[in-house]
Amino acid sequence: MQIQRVQLQQHGDERGMLVALEKDRNVPFEIRRVYYLFATKNRVHRGQHAHRHLNQLAVTVRGSVTFLLDDGSGPVEVVLDDPSQGLLLGSMVWREMYDFSDDCVLMVLADQLYDPADYITNYDEFLREVNNPMLPARVSHTPPTADAEPLGLRRAAPSVELDVQSSTPSLALSPHRTSDRRPVALATEECEKRGLGDVAACQSR
Ligand code: TYD
Repeated sequence: MQIQRVQLQQHGDERGMLVALEKDRNVPFEIRRVYYLFATKNRVHRGQHAHRHLNQLAVTVRGSVTFLLDDGSGPVEVVLDDPSQGLLLGSMVWREMYDFSDDCVLMVLADQLYDPADYITNYDEFLREVNNPMLPARVSHTPPTADAEPLGLRRAAPSVELDVQSSTPSLALSPHRTSDRRPVALATEECEKRGLGDVAACQSR
């Protein structure tokens, strides 16, 4: 999948640094909501959902976090650890966040108000919707900003297409999941099928 980051201009001088986020300048949507995650407990996994319509921009104002993103073509890991980089999160992308550093403050800008109805919290349902040609085009077409560029991402192996229509991924249970959410950790077989080389790391999440 295409990962897009936004390089945010830093205004630095002898006093320190400043980054401004502005609609249509470095944020490619109308900002209607800002929220931030902090004091995330050790080994916690957050997210574990997709949005049907929401577009977001995530910035680690402090610390670092790993994102797992999946648009239906397989998971990709992205480490976000720079307050001058934003990560664009379009609609119909499954996202999970983990490996939060103790000091992590993850700020997220969104183009819609909070709406629980926009969430898909079941991974199988996400795959059904993202791969269903009868549904309206779901994949985000968030236009990249001028300074958006591919993020230095960690795809552990060449892209491997997963036939999600004939094969539903079987994922091992994670203690962080609520009952309707599929687990974070991928089963060994699933990791291999998806071409994730680091199966141990993959399973430990
Ligand atoms: P949750 O969706 O579980 O966070 P994450 O997906 O990042 O793990 O949200 C935690 C709680 O915060 C939940 O009760 C919903 C609430 N919430 C809001 O009230 N407004 C918001 O903008 C968001 C993102 C969450």
